[in-house]
Amino acid sequence: MPSSSGPSLRVLVTGASRGIGAAIVAELGAQGHRIALTARTEADLVAVAAAVDGPTLVLPADAIDPAAPQRLIDAVVAEWGGIDVLVLNAGEAVSAPIERTDEELWNSLLEINLTSPFRFVRAATPVMKAQGFGRMIVVASVASKIGAPYISAYVSAKHGVLGMVRAAAAELATTGITVNAVCPGYVDTPMTQRSVDAIVAKTGRSRELVLGNLQSAQPIGRLITAGEVATAVSFLANDSGGINGQSIVIDGGAVQS
Ligand SMILES: NC(=O)c1ccc[n+]([C@@H]2O[C@H](COP(=O)([O-])OP(=O)(O)OC[C@H]3O[C@@H](n4cnc5c(N)ncnc54)[C@H](OP(=O)(O)O)[C@@H]3O)[C@@H](O)[C@H]2O)c1
Repeated sequence: MPSSSGPSLRVLVTGASRGIGAAIVAELGAQGHRIALTARTEADLVAVAAAVDGPTLVLPADAIDPAAPQRLIDAVVAEWGGIDVLVLNAGEAVSAPIERTDEELWNSLLEINLTSPFRFVRAATPVMKAQGFGRMIVVASVASKIGAPYISAYVSAKHGVLGMVRAAAAELATTGITVNAVCPGYVDTPMTQRSVDAIVAKTGRSRELVLGNLQSAQPIGRLITAGEVATAVSFLANDSGGINGQSIVIDGGAVQS
């Protein structure tokens, strides 16, 4: 049976091509685990995988394709005989006032941040149950815990995915599978840089001012690093099984839960 204390867990990371996902690949890869990477942009996945010493598998896919989760889990199992750790990190954030959040924006954010992670959990569950072991970790957000202006679709999707984590954790607790979430504040990644660009374009404020506002959202006065999120994911991936249905906030102390 696979063990979290063994040297080589079989890991699938979604959204592995940059930002938090790339940091998770680097962290778990440095521990000697086997890492399958997926996102849409193959060239970026290849570059992230090239920095890992151990075995990697590059599996380009669009995570909102309903057939992709099963296909990707099957590919990992075909290559390595099973899957021990599933890190569901792929996500998108788009802001808009409620009255300008149209059907397309609402549905697209629910699809990538909520429905897609559910499909991965559903596809991995039979394999992990048969193994009697699995660690599922969702990269959620502080937006899973509190609301904020202009991101109703994102907040709804991220609250929903934390609900899915808790339900799956409760349901699978007797099987050797744990399901947990990490909930970052603003992280220094391309996603946050895009948010800064969008706010600058909409408000005409200076980049320094906008970035300063995002930094001060964390009481520690800076953005969270992708490596800090990866450390929390690694902790859950290597946990012996006592932590289940939890959500670790990584935001310098703003949301205390
Ligand atoms: N940055 C923050 O401040 C922050 C805070 C809290 C939570 N989070 C969450 O952390 C996760 C990662 O965020 P990040 O900041 O690292 O974002 P990022 O820099 O924009 O990276 C997003 C990753 O997701 C992949 N992705 C996006 N849409 C996809 C799709 N349809 N199919 C497959 N892959 C897709 C992207 O790759 P491709 O474009 O190549 O597909 C990329 O690898 C997200 O779930 C986000 O909501 C971020």
